Amino acid sequence: MLNGRKVLLIIGGGIAAYKSLDLIRRLSEQGATVTPVLTQAGSQFVTALSVSALAGQKLYQNLFDLDVESDIGHIQLSRGADIIVVAPATADLMAKMASGLANDLASTLLLATDKPVLIAPSMNVRMWHHPATQRNIATLKTDGIHVVGPGEGNMACGEFGLGRMAEVPDIIASIQSVIRGGPLSNRHVIVTSGPTHEPIDPVRYIANRSSGKQGVAIANALLARGARVTFITGPALAEHPLGADVTEVETAAQMLAAVDNAGPSDAAVFAAAVADWHVVGAGKSKIKKTASGALPQFELAENPDILRSVSQRKTNRPELVIGFAAETDNVVENAIAKRLRKGCDWILANDVSPETGIMGGDNNQITFISDTGAEKWPEMSKKETANMLVNKIIEAFGDTDT
Ligand code: CTP
Repeated sequence: MLNGRKVLLIIGGGIAAYKSLDLIRRLSEQGATVTPVLTQAGSQFVTALSVSALAGQKLYQNLFDLDVESDIGHIQLSRGADIIVVAPATADLMAKMASGLANDLASTLLLATDKPVLIAPSMNVRMWHHPATQRNIATLKTDGIHVVGPGEGNMACGEFGLGRMAEVPDIIASIQSVIRGGPLSNRHVIVTSGPTHEPIDPVRYIANRSSGKQGVAIANALLARGARVTFITGPALAEHPLGADVTEVETAAQMLAAVDNAGPSDAAVFAAAVADWHVVGAGKSKIKKTASGALPQFELAENPDILRSVSQRKTNRPELVIGFAAETDNVVENAIAKRLRKGCDWILANDVSPETGIMGGDNNQITFISDTGAEKWPEMSKKETANMLVNKIIEAFGDTDT
């Protein structure tokens, strides 16, 4: 929730401006007060009337608006909010921000503010990939500007690719994490957790053992450091992490679809114990025992390897892809080979032989494997393991506490 929070929303001139109207509504539903600023280009896409009516607040449009200056002034306007959100952030607005221009109300507010700024870029795919835009986005990130999206998809211009403005729920989740603060406040992390259940028939299934405790602990540790977390879980008893976007799935195929739908992320942690196989043609009717005692025959097929498919993505690969290796024999050797086979950046290997008590227990003992070698961590609680991993993630991103 964003109860009592003040959002200054700058609406730039892009086709995605229509989504900003929905953004205003959703932010208001969350208890936030939205003060809208409409750029001149923005007013070509949405009307001043609809923006101010939805926000229920005065709309600001001009820098040299005597009313504004005598009323509160642009400095005041830029500092009175908890966060400034630019959605859509056009290539032009981003260029102005990156070079410190202040030649209209929006750019002046952005230069004068001392509050966190979140931008939701939106533009044609070629404009997004242009070296100038890529330079600007890198500069803005270095300047501490938070960024959500852009996503990939069909564009209004008929082309396909990166450049679509992030969806409204994703922008809201980012606003929440920026306001919460912390070293990961501009980061989106996907976490998979729990087992998957692969149906044999409507009442029976194949699954790996998994309590989901380690996945939940990782999601909680990420949330505590300000990350936006998409938590995708198979059926598990562990309590869902509060504040994450949770998607419940049952099968490996559904888990893969949920991961693909979660949008671009900075990191992905695959803590789920995904079943390796599913039953081909699992039916809607319960399989009955036969009088002759003939046993049912199942044909198994391999499930998609989610960790591998994300690790080997050509576009939208998270900067950090992290997997687990649950092993019972030759733990470290197997895990080193698994990291290379899957193409992920890090593997957390653990010995899940029943005598270790790791599976279902509250403790874990990890060997952390990266391209620089293997590092044995002491046995500790799953919460401590999660914190240790999240510290490594923060270090890898080079982020520091804000
Ligand atoms: N994983 C996945 N999708 C699968 C299987 C595994 O994303 N279909 C991920 C797990 O979440 C974990 C890592 O891959 O992060 C390794 O899982 P593990 O079960 O140890 O390895 P497998 O790939 O299943 O290999 P094997 O069973 O042969 O050890």
